[in-house]
Amino acid sequence: MPAEETFEHHSYDVVVIGAGGAGLRAAVAAHEAGARTALICRSLLGKAHTVMAEGGIAAALGNLWPEDNWKVHFRDTMRGGKLLNHWRMAELHAKESPQRVYELEQWGALFDRTPAGKISQRDFGGHRYARLAHVGDRTGLEMIRALQQRAVSLGIDVFMEFTVTDLLKDAGKICGAFGYWRESGRFVVFEAPAVVLATGGIGKSWKVTSNSWECTGDGHALALRAGATLLNMEFVQFHPTGMVWPLSVRGLLVTESVRGDGGVLVNSEKRRFMFDYIPEFFKAETADTIEEADHWYTDKANNRRPPELLPRDEVARAINSEIKAGRGSPHGGIFLDIASRRPPEFIQRRLPSMHHQFKELADVDITKEPMEIGPTCHYAMGGVEVDPDSQASVVPGLFAAGEVAGGMHGANRLGGNSLSDLIVFGKRAGDYAAAYVKELGPARPKPAPADVALAAEDVLSPFKAGPAQENPYTIQQELQETMQDLVGIIRVEHELKEALEKIAVLRARAANVSVEGNRQYNPGWHLALDLRNMLLVSEAVATAAMERQESRGGHTRNDYPMTDPYWGTQNVVVELGAPAAGGTGGTGGTLSFRRQPLPKPPPGLAELLEDDH
Ligand code: FUM
Repeated sequence: MPAEETFEHHSYDVVVIGAGGAGLRAAVAAHEAGARTALICRSLLGKAHTVMAEGGIAAALGNLWPEDNWKVHFRDTMRGGKLLNHWRMAELHAKESPQRVYELEQWGALFDRTPAGKISQRDFGGHRYARLAHVGDRTGLEMIRALQQRAVSLGIDVFMEFTVTDLLKDAGKICGAFGYWRESGRFVVFEAPAVVLATGGIGKSWKVTSNSWECTGDGHALALRAGATLLNMEFVQFHPTGMVWPLSVRGLLVTESVRGDGGVLVNSEKRRFMFDYIPEFFKAETADTIEEADHWYTDKANNRRPPELLPRDEVARAINSEIKAGRGSPHGGIFLDIASRRPPEFIQRRLPSMHHQFKELADVDITKEPMEIGPTCHYAMGGVEVDPDSQASVVPGLFAAGEVAGGMHGANRLGGNSLSDLIVFGKRAGDYAAAYVKELGPARPKPAPADVALAAEDVLSPFKAGPAQENPYTIQQELQETMQDLVGIIRVEHELKEALEKIAVLRARAANVSVEGNRQYNPGWHLALDLRNMLLVSEAVATAAMERQESRGGHTRNDYPMTDPYWGTQNVVVELGAPAAGGTGGTGGTLSFRRQPLPKPPPGLAELLEDDH
């Protein structure tokens, strides 16, 4: 850092990090509550990973099935999460998502309509009724478009192509954030008593993922280093359907809407194999004949849902088993067929992006041929431990919303519940962050110059190569292979141990990463900084996976194949020991784990979860 460099400074009430659905909604809420608000994103505004949630927003509007209501949505969400969800988050989510959807519509989102002119809703796995408000198969994109338009029209300050590397604290309270412009590499200090993390997921630590380049677990790592706790990091969702071919797009999402709209999964023997994988927990609500499964789309009251629409963890495991048993497709996946089940016009109207994606990338016409698909790392159920109502973490002034926050989805998220989570809890985080700042009054915490200097020095360390120089790209690749091979869909103790040993070595090597050139347009440097987060979060996932000795939702242990009632009462909480004083940078500190009892739903809600309800 040149001795004369002075840092750009900004002062706000609330800084929101991440401009996907949760971040945009939080920024709008904070601004409307009167807080001076900044919105920061690593990408260009509008390019958020939220656009990859294609199929729809789950909300019990009851437009197609008047029988639907928040109680059924609550029940579906909790059962999909294998009852490990924080009941209060699931309750708020089910109750508030309809209002949030109508609000999006008022802000310009153009949803598909029913013949009667209401917002159309489609079927998805684990949802009893067709519940996903959608815009073709581009719902996330439309959500971002509407929210972005709202944020921009309100005049909220946006910092694009900007990376936050550290949260700053004063006497235990958040007082701001430190980061750099990705283009120029110049440093910026934000002074703000409240920060909302809305940074999304962690999928880039796996080799096959639907996640985009920003999903490096920044918010999870920033939170840990600031002294916050993470919850249930062992639960990672592998979406059953990602592309498997061509290799260059392996992992790219194939929306669940294909199955929601009638597509079926078939193995190389042309068998609709999901009927062979119906778990006891969902037997009562899953069809066991093709006739009944097909009837369900039009008659929910008397029929049980097709097994292709079991929750994602069940479907992904079944696909994995079929592939392992040698009944896969030529490129190592399985077949997803909608061509033989719906007319071409229907497919093109309901699934335009999928039609385009397969035609352009794989030269497959999905109106005529089946797709080859396989599981892809998609979503982290674990995240920052937050108060369910306010989204406040245990660190005063630090809030989290969306995928970076934990608790809402338990052991497995239902498709469509992510987009509704973003807007329900994004709004809550923004409201409560603004209220927190108001309550603080004029006595604001302030960043100490020494902490800012430390944060800057830390960020520059990859330029000061040590004797053993390491390449960030090599470390990233080895990490992705480790997580894919050893911390994937099916886990076992000796592989988790091996993963932890490898991650420890990679963490040590990452401390010696060196990058060339200067701070302008330097992707190697950006990756070197991202690696710190990816390694820390990967270690949290692997250790939590070691700790939970059972199989549940997005965590399957070959050595503990049963769901254990004891573990159904426990969260695994992770924290980082000995955070640096003041600034929270660096790679240091040791992760520690503890079990924490899961809050029980109160009577009234608890009985909604019974099998026969
Ligand atoms: O399959 C999908 O369209 C993804 C949706 C989601 O993850 O919620």
